[in-house]
Amino acid sequence: MGKKILLEHENVPGIETFDVYRSKGGYASVEKALKTMTPDQVTEEVKTSGVRGRGGAGFPAGMKWSFLDRKSDKPRYLVCNADESEPGTFKDRYLMERIPHLLIEGMITSSYALGAKTSYIYVRGEYMYVIRILERAIEEARAAGFVGKNILGTDYSLELYVQPGAGAYICGEETALLESLEGKRGNPRLKPPFPAIAGLYASPTVVNNVETICAVVPIINNSGNAYSQIGIGKSTGTKLISASGHINKPGVYEIDLGLPVEEFIYSDEYCGGIWKGRKLKAVVAGGSSVPILPANLILKTAKGEPRLMSYESLSDGGFATGTMLGSGGFIVMDETACIVRNLWTFTRFYHHESCGQCSPCREGTGWMEKVLHRIEHGHGHMDDIDLLVDVAKKIEGNTICPLGDAAAWPVASAIRHFRDEFEYHVRFPEKVKNPKHFEIEPMEAALATAR
Ligand SMILES: Cc1cc2nc3c(=O)[nH]c(=O)nc-3n(C[C@H](O)[C@H](O)[C@H](O)COP(=O)(O)O)c2cc1C
Ligand code: SF4
Repeated sequence: MGKKILLEHENVPGIETFDVYRSKGGYASVEKALKTMTPDQVTEEVKTSGVRGRGGAGFPAGMKWSFLDRKSDKPRYLVCNADESEPGTFKDRYLMERIPHLLIEGMITSSYALGAKTSYIYVRGEYMYVIRILERAIEEARAAGFVGKNILGTDYSLELYVQPGAGAYICGEETALLESLEGKRGNPRLKPPFPAIAGLYASPTVVNNVETICAVVPIINNSGNAYSQIGIGKSTGTKLISASGHINKPGVYEIDLGLPVEEFIYSDEYCGGIWKGRKLKAVVAGGSSVPILPANLILKTAKGEPRLMSYESLSDGGFATGTMLGSGGFIVMDETACIVRNLWTFTRFYHHESCGQCSPCREGTGWMEKVLHRIEHGHGHMDDIDLLVDVAKKIEGNTICPLGDAAAWPVASAIRHFRDEFEYHVRFPEKVKNPKHFEIEPMEAALATAR
């Protein structure tokens, strides 16, 4: 069993209050950083830790910090991305509602390293109660001298603000988030320039995910080197996984990166196996945007090696046989799940959330939704399957932001791995009109009939 470093105190009564959090060693990283380290030394520790961004892309946080334009005479900003709208992902919410001071502590230590005097936490609008929890935590931290002017008697001062979003998934994309924070419509920006050069108010800005910023606390407390010893290869540290779907124990789990996927799904310590004694059919391992994998490929790579919960192992085989760790939204499907229905639901979401700036995404997501709707509802044609692949290909790589790719990859991967199910839908329209068709006639039997 891995040691919890972010969720170590998750079950301590009152841990959401400053006094209890402090009694458990809270805010030690702020004291250590501000009193004994220079901002560059803090950045070096984060680099040494190897921690990669936990928002989805997995970019090394220390490297991102070192790109920040420190020569500019404009103010620098740290913006925490707490938009968390990726379907299947709910770990940031858990961190913020359960241990809000961990994020506030991480924000202060990280802002010090970056030389930011004003920092923001941009929270998904639907998380209204979380916003209140964070605001209360900031006020407690301020009363204790950790936020505001001359923190702990040093010459470092910081103002922290919580900004609610208005419920748009696209505002989780970092440049759309910055637009929204500036009071504009949340449309992604063309890059370059990247936020490290011209971000919030055209000033040097670092945008990091909630979990990434929380990880800075143990990194500074225990050293970057100690953090880098946890995990496997370039997947250092621990990762929070939001586990949902057809498992016995859905929830948020902190794992050491490198844990075998099979152990994560079947051991009682984590998901506790597939519910109702059913068989595993497929997994979407990193939030709805990543390619879906069938049971055999999520448990083992195409080379026959055990698949691990790490950036490298999950992507082994590329998109032909692999996927991505993404945001760690781990959605498990049992044998009764309908892949076409599931994909239609995901695609409906992307169509609804497309900001509309690029034609391939705006039009393509709409077309994919329409075609999937007709296949799932028994009105599809055989040609529709290749049409979907074609539309997905035309979106991929041809848009301003990765939402287009996020919509295309699930479609392409579902057809790559489950084409026979799409064909079944076209050949047996009467059977698939019932949304629970694979519960009534288990998938394997249904497909055997089709063959
Ligand atoms: C459509 C879209 C939605 C995103 N939503 C989120 C989100 O809710 N939270 C998040 O941290 N990153 C999200 N990202 C990734 C961010 O653009 C960015 O990479 C991330 O906040 C950087 O933080 P990290 O390096 O700590 O992961 C999203 C990206 C895209 C394209
Ligand atoms: S890919 Fe989609 S969401 Fe992203 S900028 Fe283009 S239209 Fe907007």
